[in-house]
Formats: sequence, C-alpha cells, structure tokens
Amino acid sequence: MPAIVNQLKSMEIPGEYGNWITAIQDRIQFYKGNDAFFQTKKDQHNSTVYRSNMPPGPFMAKDPKCIVLLDAKSFPILFDVSRVEKKDVFTGTYMPSTSLTGGYRMLSYLDPSEEKHTQVKTLLFRLLASRKHHVIPEFRKAYNTLFENMELEIAKDGKSDFNAGNDQQGFEFACTSFFGVSPSSTDLGTSGPDKAAFWLVFHLHPLVSIGLPTFLEELFLHTFPLPPIFAKPSYNSLYSYFSSGATHALDVAESLGLSREEACHNLLFATVFNTYGGIKILFPGIMKCLAEADKSLHSRLASEIRREVKLEGGKVTMAAIEKMELTKSVVYEALRIDPPVKFQYGKAKVDMTIDSHDARYDVKKGEMLFGYQPFATKDERVFENADKFVGDRFVGEEGKKLLKYVVWSNGPETEDTTVANKQCAGKNFVVLVGRLLVVEFFLKYDTFTGETASTIAGLTVNVTSVTKATS
Ligand code: HEM
Repeated sequence: MPAIVNQLKSMEIPGEYGNWITAIQDRIQFYKGNDAFFQTKKDQHNSTVYRSNMPPGPFMAKDPKCIVLLDAKSFPILFDVSRVEKKDVFTGTYMPSTSLTGGYRMLSYLDPSEEKHTQVKTLLFRLLASRKHHVIPEFRKAYNTLFENMELEIAKDGKSDFNAGNDQQGFEFACTSFFGVSPSSTDLGTSGPDKAAFWLVFHLHPLVSIGLPTFLEELFLHTFPLPPIFAKPSYNSLYSYFSSGATHALDVAESLGLSREEACHNLLFATVFNTYGGIKILFPGIMKCLAEADKSLHSRLASEIRREVKLEGGKVTMAAIEKMELTKSVVYEALRIDPPVKFQYGKAKVDMTIDSHDARYDVKKGEMLFGYQPFATKDERVFENADKFVGDRFVGEEGKKLLKYVVWSNGPETEDTTVANKQCAGKNFVVLVGRLLVVEFFLKYDTFTGETASTIAGLTVNVTSVTKATS
C-alpha cells in the first residue's frame, strides 16, 4: 500500500509579538471589536493561524503571547487533552484570584490529569442526573412567568426587555432545577441575579469593554484586577443560599471524598458562572436568531412543536422534544453562529504540528494556543453560507453530518462530556434548555417581532409584539 503523503506545506507561523507596548496596542484594538481584530490580522497574514498578543496583557497576565487558531481544522487541537494542558486557562492568559471562590481553584480551571477534576465533575454529573425530572417543570414555571410579564410590558410600553426578564428567570430556574429551593423564597430574595452579575464582573472585566472612554477602561478594567474584597458581600449572600439549599448535593460530594466547603464553592460556580452566565448569553442569542429569521420559520416551528406535544397527550416530554428535528436544528444553528463562549485556550504539552486547511505549522511545548470560536464555526470551507442563520441546517442525514463542527461545549456536538475531557459538564442540559425555550415560546405564540442590538457589552433583544397561538 502506498504511504499516505501529507500534501500540506510546512509554514512558519506568521506574526510578531513585539514588546509590552505592542501588547497594550493589541488589547486596545481587541476591545474595539473582536471580529474586526481577528479578521484584520487574518487578512494581514493571509493565514488562519498566526501569532498575536491576547488581552489582558500587562499587568494582569504574565505572558500575553498566543498562537491564534481561526479555522475549523486547526481549532479542535484545543479539545485534545493528551496534547494540550487545560490548567488555569479557563479565562485565558490571566486567572482571576481564588479569593473570589473561597480560596479554591474551581473545576473549570482544573486539567483532567488532576484528581480533583474527576471528583468534582462526577459530582456535577450526579447532580444533573438526580435532577433530570425537574428540568422541564421548573423551566415551564420560570419562563411562563417571563412570558406573562413580557405581554404586560408590551401592552404598557410597546416593548419588553428580554434580557432583563431572562436574567431574573434564568437565575431562578437554574437554582430551582438543580436544588429544588427557589432562591427568591430565601433571604436572597430577588437580588440573586444582580449579586451574581456583580461577582461575574470581577472574573471577566479584563476581557470586556463596557463602552467607557479607552483611558478609563484601561485604568479601571484592563490593567489591574478589581480587588476581590468588594465582591465578598455579594458572594457571601450567594454562598448562604447554596450551603443551605444544596444539602443533598453536598452529602453526595462528601461520599466522593470532597469537603462540603470546597464542593459548595464549586456548586455555586457551576450554577452561577457556568449555568446562569451561559443562559444569560445563549437565550438572547436564540431569540435574536428567531427575531431576525423569516416568519415562515416561526410557523414551521409552531406546527412541529404543537404536533409532537399533542402526540404526547399535550405534555412537553423528552420524547416529544427528541422528535422535533427543526427545533433541535434551530438551537444548534444558534450555538454555531454565535457560540456563547467565544474564547478557548490550551497550552501545548509537547512539540507538535497543527494543520489548517492550507498549511502545517510547528508548535513548541509550552506555547499558548488560543481559538476564536465564532470564526471556526463560521468556516466557509465547512459550512455553506456560513455567516447566515439557516434554521434547518442540521435537519436530515446530510445536516447531521455537520454536527461534529458544532463545538460550543468545547468539543464536537457528536461526542460525550466525560471526566477525562474538558467538554462542558452541562452539555446535554444546555441543548435541552435551548430547545425548551423554543418549545415554550411557540406553544404560546404563533409569531413575534423584536428589535435586536449587538452592543459592545453584548447582545440585547426587545420583544415588540407577540401573536398568541391560534391553533
Ligand atoms: C466548561 C460552555 C452551561 C458546567 C465549559 C466550556 C465551555 C462551556 C465552552 C469549556 C471552557 C474551556 O475549558 O475552555 C457553556 C455554555 C453554557 C454552559 C455556553 C450555557 C449556555 C453549563 C452548565 C453547567 C456547566 C449548565 C452545569 C453543570 C461546566 C463545567 C465546565 C464547563 C463544570 C468545566 C468542565 C471540565 O472541567 O471538564 N462550558 N457551558 N456549563 N462547563 Fe459549561
């Protein structure tokens, strides 16, 4: 048999890091707009793999130098934990102080080679499995409240801020579905989402712009960490909810050899940062795709959803949702076109080569790899009309073949999250709740209109009208 010859030519990775001033210049460009920042350098180097500084740089990150990966072929190296180390890289080249998480390194920062990674991820798998029958009812309760409020606001003001309602109900839903205790019925009251958002700022401020003048943002957000002490009161209130509400999960944690205290900080992090933080971004993303889609998509979704629910005797069940091909495709497409977590990092564990579609590159052990996911999942060499939202892209046999390129969970959609990898522990939960949002919405409404805006601080959706279900 002839030997398989790799046709790709070896190339030097283009791009220069410059000095610390270059790192600051790079970060200022980055905050002006992520897509433009990566596209400009991609065009300049005529390559989807190149060297660049990544924010925050001085003085928060020891080393801002990264090898940037922008295509669907090179990006998956970041999932290969045999070649890439995922220790302390969850937020990238800097790591927020562990004072924000009770002095512990949270699961998201652990490499699978660390024993604690297996223990804590197992705890989350057990939690999700034990609560699986609560997800649909708790979701329906929380989001029907959101829809009722939305209708009242539209009647009064002509529009309803979906993000605000989603923040309130997303937090309520996440906590109640995981622990069976409504946070708003405890001392936390309705302050949970604000306290959570405030605490999240202390983790993520080095990566975001909130639209203030550059010199103010440079001084207050991008050069030094915000002192964790200011987040303490909010964090302590959240912690009280988890230490009293999550008793069953904490018992399970002890049986797995974890201390109740470390487990409680991890449950808080998984619920507030991973789950609530994820829903805060994903759900407006889905609503944006639907608001901007052709109205015929609304009627196709409504008829699919109502047909399958009717066949289940009027109940929203897992079996019914599993049969909703178009609904599933819409959620995958929303996750593809605008992945909620856009940045992935990993450090080369060994010398290796990385292939893009066009060339092969040598990477040295210890170099930091960074993938900008929106470019990898909008790679024209994989997806036709990659920049366009195509609701039924993943329907049918041909559509399903593309699912391996949907990687929002830090791994292909066709693979399972395990204790041995770094794929999102909540992968199945997330696709389920994404589908539930679409299902609940189109059980209630035939169609809707909305105004969407992509601001520097994120995506906002205002629902301006809804047409109640007629069949
Ligand atoms: C990891 C996305 C919801 C728990 C991750 C990663 C991504 C991600 C991209 C990998 C980060 C990296 O290492 O580079 C999301 C999104 C969500 C979501 C977009 C919602 C829209 C959840 C939920 C849970 C969860 C509901 C609840 C258990 C975790 C954990 C990890 C993780 C524990 C670390 C996994 C490990 O260390 O092996 N998630 N996630 N996430 N996610 Fe999620």
